[in-house]
Amino acid sequence: MSFTTEARIAAEALEEYLRDSQAGAGATIRQPPMRELVESLGVGELLREGGLEGERFREFLERYLSATTRLHHPGFLAHQVAPPEPLGALGSLVDGFTNNAMAIYEMGPAAAAIEFAVVNWMLGKVGWVSPPLPPAHPEAGVHAAGVLVNGGSLANLTALLAARGRADPDAWRAGPRRDLVVLAPKGAHYSIARAAGILGLGEEALVAAPTDGDGRLVPDRLPSTLRDLRQAGRRVMAVVANACSTAVGLYDPLRKVGRFCRENGLWLHVDGAHGASALLSERLRARLDGVELADSLVWDAHKMLRAPTLCAAVLVRDGCDLDRAFHQEASYLLHAKDEPGFDFMSRTVECTKAGLGLRVLLSLAREGERGAARYVERQTDLATLVAAQLRLEPGWEVAVEPESNIVCFRLEGSDARVLEIRRRLLAAGRHYLSSTEFRGRRWLRLALMSPATTVDEIASLVAEIRGIAAEVP
Ligand SMILES: Cc1ncc(COP(=O)(O)O)c(C=O)c1O
Repeated sequence: MSFTTEARIAAEALEEYLRDSQAGAGATIRQPPMRELVESLGVGELLREGGLEGERFREFLERYLSATTRLHHPGFLAHQVAPPEPLGALGSLVDGFTNNAMAIYEMGPAAAAIEFAVVNWMLGKVGWVSPPLPPAHPEAGVHAAGVLVNGGSLANLTALLAARGRADPDAWRAGPRRDLVVLAPKGAHYSIARAAGILGLGEEALVAAPTDGDGRLVPDRLPSTLRDLRQAGRRVMAVVANACSTAVGLYDPLRKVGRFCRENGLWLHVDGAHGASALLSERLRARLDGVELADSLVWDAHKMLRAPTLCAAVLVRDGCDLDRAFHQEASYLLHAKDEPGFDFMSRTVECTKAGLGLRVLLSLAREGERGAARYVERQTDLATLVAAQLRLEPGWEVAVEPESNIVCFRLEGSDARVLEIRRRLLAAGRHYLSSTEFRGRRWLRLALMSPATTVDEIASLVAEIRGIAAEVP
């Protein structure tokens, strides 16, 4: 069998999958027992004996696709993972096929060049000065920089590593000082706490920043928090702000927080994993007003830029902070050389690194950045409509007025009742939503990622929940 035959089988299967999913056919989510799946997919036999060809490959794909969670389906309302742009998904295929480990330029010039240019495009959207494309050298002055890594969690870790390098330059050699703290809203993504652990600061180094009742940073209370910490002998390594928060999608007031951080010599890290894509929209970019005052920003492309997983940008205002973050010797890879390109190796945990820029580029290349902006605007506007629709239901409560494409709501009753409603909904399979804790209670949570989701689909979700709720005391 030639590659073309296999590729055609896969392309046909995926085309049908996409069409059916977008049209709302079949279940959004179906969770057969794992043992059953391993058996029906013939995993053991394939590992032992191989032989996956032609019709068998087609049948295998059919079975595989029937047990996937359908992100392109109008009923996919659960998590912040994009139904990828098909052209972007082909980027994953091309990258996987060529396998250019492009962290050093000589191992993937096209992939590295695209990543450099994509990062520069993102830096421009933030309002930072991007460096010229190599082999030109940057002129004197501060230049921003970035790198694409495998997801927002790794991106947050990388950004906080750069912050640690600024606050405690000797940490790489001697381990971190004991007095460092990271000031972050309680609702920051858990990867921030993990980063504190991984960086050797310890979980106790994560201090809750002052927030209002909705979990939004309150800049006016930052001075007293900083004073208290300093009096207690602690040194703030970084302040973290959400843009937007994972649970309910609210943006922190970046300009005020940014000014405070600049005035006090504090590193501001903005976690824009989900919400930074609003920078593409003239109408919505005000949500991130002041983001240029940050020292670092994380921006996931596999969320609102519709790139296939995983792909997140770590962006820093002063590129030197990122270049100094990893003080590593790898003489066989890192040595002074005259080169026409750029080695990303010194900016990332990874050694063998995928060509993630291609995925971002191809995800945008059909409709350009205006198309991406339209997607962000559509999903955000839909969230506003959905919140209004949910508020019409007697006894239903919407957590906050949405600022992104995330909507949280709950029905009357205990957290256990809310979770039971979700369990029954998922078992039915058409609508897949998530849940979150917020203000001490459990909420149902919609992340409106699929372009196929409409107001009518939400009406059918509401009707289904109404029916389930009538049976759940
Ligand atoms: C604000 C925020 N930061 C970081 C992450 C983690 O990103 P990833 O899942 O790409 O590791 C998420 C994921 O939902 C998020 O919402």
